[in-house]
Amino acid sequence: MLVDSHCHLDRVGLELYNDDFGRFIAATLDSGVGRMLCVSIDLESWPAMVALVADYPQISISVGVHPNDKERREPTPEELVKLSQTPKVVAIGETGLDYFHGKGDLDWQRDRFRRHIRAAKAAEKPLIIHSRDAKSDTLRIMREEGADAAGGVMHCFTEDWPMAQQALEMGFYVSFSGIITFNNAAPLREVVKQVPMQRLLIETDSPYLAPVPYRGKPNQPMYVRQVAECVAALKGLTLEAVAERTTENFYRCFADAGAPIQ
Ligand code: NI
Repeated sequence: MLVDSHCHLDRVGLELYNDDFGRFIAATLDSGVGRMLCVSIDLESWPAMVALVADYPQISISVGVHPNDKERREPTPEELVKLSQTPKVVAIGETGLDYFHGKGDLDWQRDRFRRHIRAAKAAEKPLIIHSRDAKSDTLRIMREEGADAAGGVMHCFTEDWPMAQQALEMGFYVSFSGIITFNNAAPLREVVKQVPMQRLLIETDSPYLAPVPYRGKPNQPMYVRQVAECVAALKGLTLEAVAERTTENFYRCFADAGAPIQ
């Protein structure tokens, strides 16, 4: 069984599935992806996301506000803690810093990130952290806020080995997406080789970042197989071994996700 540790199921196009979410999930499960973590990016769309996945025990969710969009409603740590008590919520995020998309004075991004870390610690739930072109500030704020007490994952990791190493030292997992299959991602593939197998997760970040050979097309959780195959090749492991280890890691990282569902 494969796990997609990070996807946005409320944003995936359902054209291939007659606009039927149930059919889409059934096809995903049939493909061998037995578990998905559907990740929140704002509170405006959160209730609809919760409702969309409510009937599927194979789908866990998170709550949080993504760093890319300043206009989103800012949650307080108290509000995030309260929402995190909703059934199926296993993590806080995604949160973090994005200096690639974000321009100008980004104090609001750093403040938002700090609020999420405080909420995760209070709720005793792991963090889903997004970091793009913001290595040193991400690590600095993680340290200043004591993010190691919450733990979690550096999602869709695209930074370098020194950053991965520092996140690993804080007890975080490192998750790789379809980006590792891209032609121009040779340096990132070297990072994959260095991350210990017991701390590595895989994800699609659907509907974004489809792996080769689907690059440029809409992504979906079943393509996490291509990510797993790439990890297997880089690590000299079988696909089955990568599936098994990353699934174990997922349940260890997101302990509230409970036991695997057969
Ligand atoms: Ni995402």
